Amino acid sequence: MSSKTYAPTAEMVANAHVNEAKYNEMYAASISDPEGFWREQGKRVDWIKPFTQVKDVSYAFGEVNINWYADGTLNVSANCIDRHLATRGSQTAIIWEPDNPDEGAQHITYQELHDNTCRMANVLKDLGVGKGDRVVLYLPMIPEAAYAMLACTRIGAIHSIVFAGFSPDALSARVNGSEAKVVITADEAPRGGRNTPLKTNADQALLHCSDDVKCLVVKRTGGQTTWVDGRDVDYNALAADASTECAPEEMNAEDPLFILYTSGSTGQPKGVVHTTGGYLVYASLTHEMVFDYHDGDIYWCTADVGWVTGHSYIVYGPLANGATSVMFEGTPTYPDASRFWQVCEKHKVNQFYTAPTAIRALMGQGNEFVEKCDLSDLKVLGTVGEPINPEAWNWYNDVVGGGRCPIVDTWWQTETGGHLMTPLPGAHATKPGSAMKPFFGIEPVVLEPASGEIIEGNGVEGVLCIKDSWPGQMRTVWGDHERFMKTYFADYKGYYFTGDGCRRDEDGDYWITGRVDDVINVSGHRMGTAEVESALVAHAKVAEAAVVGYPHDIKGQGIYCYVTLMSGEEPSEELRKELRTWVRTEIGPIASPDLIQWAPGLPKTRSGKIMRRILRKIAENDYGALGDTSTLAEPAVVDDLIENRMNR
Ligand code: WT7
Repeated sequence: MSSKTYAPTAEMVANAHVNEAKYNEMYAASISDPEGFWREQGKRVDWIKPFTQVKDVSYAFGEVNINWYADGTLNVSANCIDRHLATRGSQTAIIWEPDNPDEGAQHITYQELHDNTCRMANVLKDLGVGKGDRVVLYLPMIPEAAYAMLACTRIGAIHSIVFAGFSPDALSARVNGSEAKVVITADEAPRGGRNTPLKTNADQALLHCSDDVKCLVVKRTGGQTTWVDGRDVDYNALAADASTECAPEEMNAEDPLFILYTSGSTGQPKGVVHTTGGYLVYASLTHEMVFDYHDGDIYWCTADVGWVTGHSYIVYGPLANGATSVMFEGTPTYPDASRFWQVCEKHKVNQFYTAPTAIRALMGQGNEFVEKCDLSDLKVLGTVGEPINPEAWNWYNDVVGGGRCPIVDTWWQTETGGHLMTPLPGAHATKPGSAMKPFFGIEPVVLEPASGEIIEGNGVEGVLCIKDSWPGQMRTVWGDHERFMKTYFADYKGYYFTGDGCRRDEDGDYWITGRVDDVINVSGHRMGTAEVESALVAHAKVAEAAVVGYPHDIKGQGIYCYVTLMSGEEPSEELRKELRTWVRTEIGPIASPDLIQWAPGLPKTRSGKIMRRILRKIAENDYGALGDTSTLAEPAVVDDLIENRMNR
């Protein structure tokens, strides 16, 4: 692995919020006196009733309990909007860039954001939504998605966003799981020149939900088809008449702010719960420090609000900081592979944050798509979602950043609310592929996987845990605190278990080596192999299925499925297509299997446990190193799988 380092320019160091000495000093202080550090940082946000308590946390298994600023009260939308109005009411809060560039961008000021958020809040109130109620958002990347998030926080409702690429089944599961009162959707979602029929999907989903659930429909394309009277509500009609004033609800710091479902190694996706005060402090602090955001900068995170990245780094962090945040509806390659760079040029973007999968896809298209655009306003580049390979890192650094923009490789998770490890632009010389340093208040520990012993020193590798809490940490799994404790606090007692492996190199810098559980990372999206397996076995012709990840040039990991058919069923190309479509409808296009191998049998231990290690090796085309196969019940099935492997 490359150990070449890339130091920030002298100009970057001089202008950055944090240089190396300051990082060292602040980091040391944050670890030796977390109370003092976070007490000070808590002042970043406006409190209605100021907190006196800072941290009250137990990681003890069986009684895990996480509280920050617990006696303070505040309102998130007031922090993201109202407190900026006096000084930046006419400043652009959101630059909205539509899928089709010809449609033209919208510049939404903080005052307009206020008015539109209040309108949405009043519409929700009229639908009977109040403090503590759940609202599901199933929306394209349109300004109304931000209004809806902020409107929920304004009235104390808890939002749960479902990425528009998820299927009706996934949507209904999430509506039911959170017992939501309202689903906010749009007629259609344009992306990459194609329209996804969101409302039609929502119609299908709502067939499986309580009749009391209302569907608030935002007009995006006008491509509306069906309408269910009494259930469907026309947002645009109501918003036109709604008041632009709505008093923010006083919320406790530990009241839930949002639920966001994410995949784990077992079972169905779990509802990650984030709360109000600590989350906002953490999102805003990391946004400012990690991107070295300065007043007046134009900041662009290309994520979707359906993922945590969009929550923390399109909406809450940037808006809490009074930033100008770009919101992009489209894709990196539409109308062509220069779209990202054209948007950067057009809006004079200073900080640009995207995923390695997008970088890899664009790198393959040639440099001319980048070089024809003026990217001289760029100062900081960020990546998130999966490990970035040095080749992609170097291309990002050289071709996009012109060698002068530090790359922040931010490692974090839905569960963590914000960045946990990343270099800071003015503080650290970076290494391609390394997440480098813990953020303030984060104490990573590397553990021996089997024994859970701490591995001290440098040049070591193991599982990554975090020693103590930070304000942005998830508080529970919605409706299942037991599952929360079991997932994150049972395997390695006294620590938060991340599910990732990591290496601490000779210099003490961190490298994320990927998941150590049955979670795979497809184009930066997290996917539980168990979810894809249960979708496959739900098909009438499938007897058994095992799903693993394999290295994929663009996606990082692809989805490799071993499928055993019911006896009497014949494998065919047609059936392969059918199964692929099946999984797409069960979960969504992001779960589309890349490779499906017909498996007459799966390698199992004598006790019937599928030996995934072997399946992973075969999928990786690394079957020379199958390791110990002596516990296999039927060694012959492995020979067949190798012989017929798909990934040659
Ligand atoms: C998993 C979390 C956090 C927003 C996007 C993904 C992987 C994330 C990095 C990175 C290496 C990374 C980890 C993590 N991951 N960022 N910079 N380097 N791996 O959120 O869907 O909750 O997935 O993504 O494996 O556990 P998520």
